[in-house]
Amino acid sequence: MALMNITKRPLTQMARMHARPFPGQAEYEQTLQDLSDASVHRNFDPYLDIDWDSPELAIIENDPRWVCDPQFDPIGRHPWYQAQPLDKQIEMGLWRQANVAKVGLQFESMLIRGIMQYTAALPNGSPEFRYATHEAKEECQHTLMFQEFVNRVGMDVPGGNIFLRRISPIVPLFATLTPLFFYMMVLGGEEPIDHLQKQFLRSAGVQHPAMTRIMQIHVAEEARHIGFAHQLLERRIPTRGRFPRLLLSLMLPITMRVMVTMIMMPPHQFWETFDIPREVKKDIFWRSPESQQTKRDVFGDVRMMAQKSGLMNPLSRFMWRLCGIDGRISRFRSEPAYAAQ
Ligand SMILES: [Fe+2]
Ligand SMILES: [Fe+2]
Repeated sequence: MALMNITKRPLTQMARMHARPFPGQAEYEQTLQDLSDASVHRNFDPYLDIDWDSPELAIIENDPRWVCDPQFDPIGRHPWYQAQPLDKQIEMGLWRQANVAKVGLQFESMLIRGIMQYTAALPNGSPEFRYATHEAKEECQHTLMFQEFVNRVGMDVPGGNIFLRRISPIVPLFATLTPLFFYMMVLGGEEPIDHLQKQFLRSAGVQHPAMTRIMQIHVAEEARHIGFAHQLLERRIPTRGRFPRLLLSLMLPITMRVMVTMIMMPPHQFWETFDIPREVKKDIFWRSPESQQTKRDVFGDVRMMAQKSGLMNPLSRFMWRLCGIDGRISRFRSEPAYAAQ
């Protein structure tokens, strides 16, 4: 009978009592509900949805489909690479793809640990708790998928450089200390990979079917993750004071600039193993005009998020330029870079 005296409120209302309300909160919560529903009804398991042992997916020697694509990969575009014998181009391409997968999983591992930190502090009834946990579950599947691919390639690739591996245990702490900055780092990791994978899938580029399958699964689920990070930042940044917003506006381009290099530039083992001249490395990351363009193009959606969140001001615009990643602002998410040209 005592139970009847307990005041029962809808749980979402309870969650709201713990945080300051913000404009558009109901809409934000509805988006999270929709994203959570989509995660339940459309998700993948790398061991059910990829037939790793099919002959079609076998990774065999001297398969020219592993040559770095000149259209999307700054390495494949460089005349030095194109002048190498075909078997070396293939070996470099395979090493590169395996290493990108390894970097991807190292990022996702940081993200999963950070999300767990973030959700641990959320109140009962929080729609963010539910969606973020769905996301972490999907990221676990992605790390399994990427590691399986690396194992099947059979090259002992290190993934990120020493800096990335050193900061890995520290990054999740930001999810507790400065969640908005943490979600910026999430975008910095997800946007470049997602942008390049989408570009590739949209093109008629020749690709190994194992890579195509991995990209299809990844792009399908990343769309939700990136949508969540955009929503969270767009809704929560405007609630912060003037000074934190200024700081975030300057940190955003710096974070994107550091992260795109960490993701796209292979570690020193790559340059040493394949005996690549220093000048070639400099051209590729990021001296040549084409490389500079690639670096700019991957952040069209982040610039859009920055604008919507009020993070574009004269100082931050200068910082975007200084970091070499200023450029066109996407009109909608995933707008292809060529659409506005
Ligand atoms: Fe992922
Ligand atoms: Fe993700």
